[in-house]
Formats: sequence, structure tokens, C-alpha cells
Amino acid sequence: MTVFLNGKFLPIGEATVSVLDRGFIFGDGVYELVPVYSRVPFRLEEHLVRLERSLGEAKIRNPYSRAQWRAHIYQLIDAQPFDDQAIYFQVTRGVAKRDHAFPKNVEPTVFMMSNPLVNPPPEQVEKGVAAVSAQDDRWLRCDIKSISLIGNCMLRQLSAEVGANETILFRDGRLTEASASNVFIVKRGVIQSPPKTNLILPGITYDVVVELARADGLALEFKDAPEAEVRAADEIWVTSSSKEVLAIVELDGKRVGDGHPGPVFRRMYRLYQEFKQQVMRAGKREALPV
Ligand SMILES: Cc1ncc(COP(=O)(O)O)c(C=O)c1O
Repeated sequence: MTVFLNGKFLPIGEATVSVLDRGFIFGDGVYELVPVYSRVPFRLEEHLVRLERSLGEAKIRNPYSRAQWRAHIYQLIDAQPFDDQAIYFQVTRGVAKRDHAFPKNVEPTVFMMSNPLVNPPPEQVEKGVAAVSAQDDRWLRCDIKSISLIGNCMLRQLSAEVGANETILFRDGRLTEASASNVFIVKRGVIQSPPKTNLILPGITYDVVVELARADGLALEFKDAPEAEVRAADEIWVTSSSKEVLAIVELDGKRVGDGHPGPVFRRMYRLYQEFKQQVMRAGKREALPV
């Protein structure tokens, strides 16, 4: 497996970082995950914009221009033998003597790898999946795509332990998101999602779903949903770059709606697949730097 570390492409076994890297010591870094279909990255610009924002909020220096990021990512894609990929990249604040305060004059550490993209299998798309719920006890900057994911990992483990697919989170009695995805609900044909605040990650897939809903004339509202409304919803979906759009048909052991993926989900799933096909057919890569 060829990975990227600090400007070099090398076999994963040769990619090493210092134990003093602040990513290792403090989880002091940010990351992105971009899905690649048939070697075409999906919404790359949007992912790069979000990376720039996360870096800015965390006050970590961005070591590359947007064009350089694109060039490295395309090269990483081309170095893999498989077509559908999940490109993971992270930037940490760099290597320094352990001290909470930010070190001066350090080089950020940049690591990128590609794995085969794993989307939900057809059976999950057709039948939906189960989720459990939990209190959202993470920090209050969930809008930063931080590599410090212990909170999300602990919450995801709650669903993993009972064989469920996701953990849906409530903070102060209101829906936020899930451990690794955004959440939409449908009530009487109206799609609803929490607004983008510091309490949720601004998902790239969330934006795609919103754009597709608008273009298709589906009713859509951004609104904080009380827990009872979520439990009484006709449909619940989770969205992420790897899950795409997936129906939750059971929450905490109780059926959601009639226990099957609903009609609005099926429509959105089709719109999403059509949109992906269009992007792949267009097959465009943004211009490489000169
Ligand atoms: C906590 C959380 N929310 C939402 C998402 C969905 O984001 P995206 O659609 O950009 O993959 C993710 C994805 O990793 C996530 O970890």
C-alpha cells in the first residue's frame, strides 16, 4: 500500500512519525475522508474547504495550497490498484516537546492513505439498519473535524456491542447527529435535519442531500428535533461519505415508521446514485498546478 507522508509517497511499512507528534500525544490534528468513485474524487473541493476551515479553527498551519492538495490526492489515487477508494488525510500540529500550549515554528505532519471504499451492501440499502441512541456527551466543537475521536469511538462502540449500525445522539433532549454520520428524519413527507451549528459536523453528504432535495422539490426544514419527535418519525436516515444515505429502520429495538426504508428515503437514495453517476461520467479532475 502506497501512502503519503510529509511530501513523499512510500510503502505503508516505511511511513513512520515521531512518538512526540502532537497527533499521537494530544490528538492535536484534523482530518478528512473523501470518497472516490471510478478514480473520480467526489466533492473534493468541498472537502478541501472544510479541511481549511478545521485547520483555521484549530490554528494549525495549512502546509499546502489547494492546488497542491489536489495534486497529492490525485497522485495517491493513481498509486492504488483499485478504482473506488476512501482517501483519508490528516494534518497534525507537528512534533514538539510535550506541552499543551502550541509550539512555535513546527512543521505540520501530513499523512494520507487510500483504502478500498466500502459502501453499505445492497441488503442494508434495501432493508435498512438498526441504531441505538445515546446522550451526546462530546465537546462543544463538533463542527471541527478533529482527529480526537475518543468521544465518537466510545459512542459508536455502544451500537457495535449490540450489532447495530450507528449510535444516534441527543444533547439536552434534542437530536444532534450520529457517532460518524449526520441524521435526517422525515415526518409527513417533510425532510428535517438539525441546522449546522457547533454541535454537529457540517457533513459534505448532508449538503449533497440538501441540494438534491431542493432540486427535486422535496419539502425540507432545518430544525432542532426533540427526542420524542425523532422516535415518532416516519423515517430516519444517516448520511456520510461512506454510508451515503442509509435508512435506520429500528431505534433502540423499536420500529421506525413501518420498519422498512420509507418512500422519501428510496427517492433520495435514487437521486444520490444518479448524481454520483453524473459526477463519474463527467470524470473531471480540477486543474493540476503548473
Ligand atoms: C461525527 C460525524 N458527523 C457527520 C459525518 C458525515 O460527514 P461527511 O458527509 O462529510 O462524510 C461524519 C463523517 O465522518 C462524522 O464523523
